Amino acid sequence: MSTTIEKIVTLCKTKGFVFPGSEIYGGLANTWDYGPLGVELKNNIKREWWKFFVTSNTNSVGLDGGILLNPMVWKASGHVDGFSDPLMDCKSCKTRHRADHITNNKCPICGKSDWTEIRQFNLMFKTTRGVTEDATNTVYLRPESAQNQFVDFLNVQRSMRLKIPFGIGQIGKAFRNEITPGNFIFRTIEFEQMEHQLFCTEKESVKVYKEYKDKAMEFNSMRLGLNKKKLRFKDHDELAHYAKMACDLEFDFGGSIGWGELGGTHHRGTFDLGNHNKFSGKSQEYTDPMTGEKFIPTVIESSHGCDRLFLACLFNAYCEEPDKDETRIVLKLHPRIAPYKVAILPLQKKEQGPKAMEIYRALCKEFPCTFDDTASIGKRYRRQDEIGTPFCVTVDFDTEKDDTVTVRDRDTMEQKRIKIQEIKDYVGLRIL
Ligand code: GAP
Repeated sequence: MSTTIEKIVTLCKTKGFVFPGSEIYGGLANTWDYGPLGVELKNNIKREWWKFFVTSNTNSVGLDGGILLNPMVWKASGHVDGFSDPLMDCKSCKTRHRADHITNNKCPICGKSDWTEIRQFNLMFKTTRGVTEDATNTVYLRPESAQNQFVDFLNVQRSMRLKIPFGIGQIGKAFRNEITPGNFIFRTIEFEQMEHQLFCTEKESVKVYKEYKDKAMEFNSMRLGLNKKKLRFKDHDELAHYAKMACDLEFDFGGSIGWGELGGTHHRGTFDLGNHNKFSGKSQEYTDPMTGEKFIPTVIESSHGCDRLFLACLFNAYCEEPDKDETRIVLKLHPRIAPYKVAILPLQKKEQGPKAMEIYRALCKEFPCTFDDTASIGKRYRRQDEIGTPFCVTVDFDTEKDDTVTVRDRDTMEQKRIKIQEIKDYVGLRIL
């Protein structure tokens, strides 16, 4: 049975993955809060990304830059002048639309063709610094995290004594005043990016671009467990203002979303460092330690939206399986990204409760676990299936006799008897 956005939104809200932002005040359009299970899943995605793009590489380091940067950064990056959407209003029903998304010149709401002039609308959120609200105090919330990597490029290179080619990775919030947000957390005004910039020579850049496309595919399919058949590359028809070559990695969400962009690989050439060199008046040149040659490095960027990967992981994992007279809803998340790794379930609350609690207390120091002693064991298995817990450990009458428990596998529903002392390694090996 196919997954729909409605099913995912309901599951997210009822099971503690994602809630509508400031809901008790009627919400704020397209803002969302990650709940207790959502934050675990999101952190796991970020941890995997960090390991894959930063710490597993001999030539990559990390950065955690500020959301507010000197406004000149956005002048130099081209965002002040070029980061805008063409908008027009329907005079008939007073709704606002992106001009480049309108087909047959007809308003998608009322069907009329009575438009205002097209205006360019900058996507950056503005705010003011200090006590007076005038133009000289305007600052922007960063619309991409990447500029931190560019403005800190020489600080990082010199402090860490790095030689080209080397990379800087960062995970952090970005903000865009999207007027066509939607599809749950797919397009929001506040989101999290995971971006890696590889600084190299122009000569090696096309090879590096291809390698980074492969890396993006490997990360999504092998580390996050997204179905490779639902992933594809799409070259950009129109290049962003900074790009020489660019492609998206798309995932097939099906239904109303269809193929949607998860991330992109971008050949940014020397656009950003070249402009910062010019606008700041501070040389951004790298000096080759062997030849003494000075040059502005070329940048290959790998960028992913964490929230979109989160959504793709849920769509990829959601299954409805017939089971006896019921439908079993199961989130087949890869165990390494599942919010809880194990659920500890006493068969009977009174009899096995204390022993199960003891096991739970010990295990939750090793990995995220949960405990449930309410309802029938079958119902409790179903609850864990729905939130993607890969293993359920049941403490039963035999546990007292021989210190063994039952481990149930979420996907196969097979059960195995193991010693209590073996649980840590049994689970640990399967969540690597
Ligand atoms: N530094 C390059 C850059 O920002 P982008 O294609 O504009 O490129 C990168 O954004 C990724 O950020 C996208 O592939 C997407 O996953 C995510 N993203 C962009 N806008 C978003 C939004 N409004 N809501 C959620 N994620 C978004």
